[in-house]
Amino acid sequence: MVMPLMLCSPLALVPPLWLQLDLVAAAWAGRGAVGGGAVGTAGAGARPGAGARPGARPGADGLTQRRLRALAAALGGCGLLLGSALAAGDERLHAAVLPALRAVPPEAAHGLALRVAAFGLLPTARPDGPALEVCVLGRRFRNPLGLAAGFDKHGEAVDGLYKMGFGFVEVGTVTPKPQDGNPKPRVFRLVEDEAVINRYGFNSHGHAAVERRLRARQETQRKLTGAGMPLGVNLGKNKSSTDAAADYVAGVRVLGPLADYLVVNVSSPNTPGLRDLQGKAELRDLLTKVLAERDTLPCKHKPAVLVKIAPDLTLQDKQDIASVVCELGVDGLIVSNTTVSRPHDLQSMQRLEPGGLSGKPLRELSTQTVREMYALTQGQVPIIGVGGVSSGRDALEKICAGASLVQMYTALVYHGPLVVGTVKRELEELLREQGFKSVMEAVGADHRR
Ligand SMILES: Cc1cc2nc3c(=O)[nH]c(=O)nc-3n(C[C@H](O)[C@H](O)[C@H](O)COP(=O)(O)O)c2cc1C
Repeated sequence: MVMPLMLCSPLALVPPLWLQLDLVAAAWAGRGAVGGGAVGTAGAGARPGAGARPGARPGADGLTQRRLRALAAALGGCGLLLGSALAAGDERLHAAVLPALRAVPPEAAHGLALRVAAFGLLPTARPDGPALEVCVLGRRFRNPLGLAAGFDKHGEAVDGLYKMGFGFVEVGTVTPKPQDGNPKPRVFRLVEDEAVINRYGFNSHGHAAVERRLRARQETQRKLTGAGMPLGVNLGKNKSSTDAAADYVAGVRVLGPLADYLVVNVSSPNTPGLRDLQGKAELRDLLTKVLAERDTLPCKHKPAVLVKIAPDLTLQDKQDIASVVCELGVDGLIVSNTTVSRPHDLQSMQRLEPGGLSGKPLRELSTQTVREMYALTQGQVPIIGVGGVSSGRDALEKICAGASLVQMYTALVYHGPLVVGTVKRELEELLREQGFKSVMEAVGADHRR
């Protein structure tokens, strides 16, 4: 009874949602008792450690249970409302729901959004026009806009995510063994800057769990890939590992047969020593082993191998990466991961949190890095451009700088899933206005002007 009612008149449920959020806030004020900040940081401004200490007064257990129930009810309410908003596909409804969702702590909101996607509570995207189609990495992509790594780290909602209209989805980062990642809170919204800082630190269910999930939908993925919606899997290493190359090679062996492309992620800022793997000798050694393993995979269509790089590299680093990638015949680059830099004009209180910064303040830095890598590789190595894409203009800028495909993550936090359709529509319009017949014709256009 509840869902149909919500679908008929979901806006009517916004006030009850806000009541629920009050309960979240109440629960949050006592988050020390709720479990030591177990669901992230408080988007509404509460600070870690504020509130009651466990066992500080009699009856604290009952209070804790009531708060947990309130939190669960509130999150459930948010989930239902979000689901109905998404299923309805109404832009005004999204505008009403998104600020409400932002009152939920970032990591809890992320979990909620994933559940909604996993249940497929999303409007079906409109078909893509032929101008958006891209053939690259040995595959056809029905449109060039993909979901970046980090949103569906464990491969739990892949089919729902395609339904949002993405041309491709990247699962991961996945590490060989399961690991928890960094202590919470570890993800922060910088609302004034339309940015996020995260220091998840590769929380992962591990290869075996992700393999199981992807294997269960292998036939579905085969059809999706055939219909122009390929799948990427992003690989990492365990924090405690002493042999990074062995971790990536294991990822190729276990998850390679289930992917259209694999990503060697050597650029997340939250795993100590990881970015050192971008150095020339380390990278050559690592990629030689990864490519050898890929070449021996017993599957018909072997996955492409891409390297994901940071936006904070020196010119020498970038030259070295370009030379190794060209020398070894790596299939592509993903440019870029989050930045450890902090632009001076950031407004938000949270700007000094340690971690990787994504979203609007990353956009230009990432586009310039795409431009440089395209030039350094003479346009011979396909690039996926990622960082601060939230409009068709942002996507086309990256494409003209040299990206064959683009991805987004942080824009979803601020604009919700309808942004996927908006970016594609704007991109099609801009291509037409600027005289490009297709995305493929626009790739690297800045270098030919
Ligand atoms: C919360 C969060 C978690 C992320 N986790 C990963 C990850 O596990 N692996 C990875 O390669 N990139 C990860 N990223 C980086 C994104 O894939 C992307 O490169 C970056 O956020 C820039 O894109 P955006 O500005 O559109 O968010 C993460 C980003 C965010 C915001």
